[in-house]
Amino acid sequence: MLRVADLHVHYGSIEALKGIDLEVREGEIVALIGGNGAGKTTTLKTISGLLRPTSGRITLWDRDLTQVPAYRLSHEGIVHVPEGRRCFPRMSVRENLLLGAWGRKTDVSADLGRVFSLFPRLAERSNQVAMSLSGGEQQMLAIGRGLMGRPKILMLDEPSMGLGPMLVKLIFQLITEIHEAGATILLVEQNARMALAIADRAYVLESGRMVLEGAASDLAQNPAVRRSYLGEK
Ligand SMILES: Nc1ncnc2c1ncn2[C@@H]1O[C@H](COP(=O)(O)OP(=O)(O)OP(=O)(O)O)[C@@H](O)[C@H]1O
Ligand SMILES: [Mg+2]
Repeated sequence: MLRVADLHVHYGSIEALKGIDLEVREGEIVALIGGNGAGKTTTLKTISGLLRPTSGRITLWDRDLTQVPAYRLSHEGIVHVPEGRRCFPRMSVRENLLLGAWGRKTDVSADLGRVFSLFPRLAERSNQVAMSLSGGEQQMLAIGRGLMGRPKILMLDEPSMGLGPMLVKLIFQLITEIHEAGATILLVEQNARMALAIADRAYVLESGRMVLEGAASDLAQNPAVRRSYLGEK
């Protein structure tokens, strides 16, 4: 479905991605794991058109998207839920969600209903301003806003960041539910253990290079992965 081939991305003279390949098939959850500064966020930003690659190709269903601007990609169904939530603090929960459907002419109330049934906490707080939500609730809002864009591929950047264990569990459970409802997901996570537990396949990125890829269950057994990312000796 989504294919990234030999992607190079620079920030000025710094080469953040040194020729990475990645594929996401329809219906999969694919996890992208790696340490701080490995290039995970850069990968998502480039796929969603926020960064221009120096070279390489990004295709969705064999259509070249490499030069398509970000606002058009979101209409193509490539939806990016950024690191750090980025809700609009002074707008209400409902207004934040409606922004996720921005530019769509058709009625959005059914989409809103679906998001509220998935996240009852957001329904209860629909008129509250986003800055009054807890960290976990803001993460739900960010994911909900992404769902309002009717994603074909939902890319989540560190959805569990900064959350306590109960909320981490809840967020991963919700990701599984979103997947079961038909979404294809590319998941960036520091919590490699949880990410590998729900993913079909996974990639490991180190210093701008893909060093491992495979079935998530195989990677979870890989000694190097266990040492570097699962906190084992
Ligand atoms: N705007 C920028 N200008 C210059 N360098 C940048 C910029 N953004 C990222 N980088 C560099 O690119 C590399 C990859 O960064 P990136 O944010 O993609 O990493 P990451 O894997 O998402 O890390 P983290 O887990 O900390 O979020 C890092 O070395 C980082 O310092
Ligand atoms: Mg990042």
